Amino acid sequence: MAQLSPREQNLQEQEVSRRSFLRRLMWGSVGLAAAAFSYSGWRLFWPHKIKGFGAVVRAGSLDDFPVGSVTRVRDGRFYISRLSETELIALYWKCPHLGCTVPFEESQNLFVCPCHGSVYDKTGQNIAGPAPRPMDYMRVEIRGNDVYVDTGDIRERPDGHDPSHVTRIR
Ligand code: FES
Repeated sequence: MAQLSPREQNLQEQEVSRRSFLRRLMWGSVGLAAAAFSYSGWRLFWPHKIKGFGAVVRAGSLDDFPVGSVTRVRDGRFYISRLSETELIALYWKCPHLGCTVPFEESQNLFVCPCHGSVYDKTGQNIAGPAPRPMDYMRVEIRGNDVYVDTGDIRERPDGHDPSHVTRIR
């Protein structure tokens, strides 16, 4: 076997180190791509902690809602309408007609939509204007003295307001 000259040996060593560098680079890239893929998969499927609209929102304590009051809860996009000592309802503020935000008009004691004039009473029942049904409502849970509203559970009322839509306070 022929002996390599120092120059040839040097070239061979350079070739080997170049190949090992490229191999490391390739495996590094594969590792990075796998890590990025795993991270995006984890982000996609891991449940996110939701706050505000879409989650269960603490509206306040029962004492925050005197009988007859209508209270806007901005975080959850709803109103708490305290109908009596023992009843309240959480009304989604989106108009069932074309989706405008419906304000409560204290002077009229009614919800009046500024877009096309739909009018709703304090139970959310539509009483005038083009709205096809009452305001939607959300599921309410009373825990101790606190009122929680599930803003991810919005319910339509195509057949009108019904007493079963109201939450009873014991
Ligand atoms: S969007 Fe409210 S009446 Fe049309």
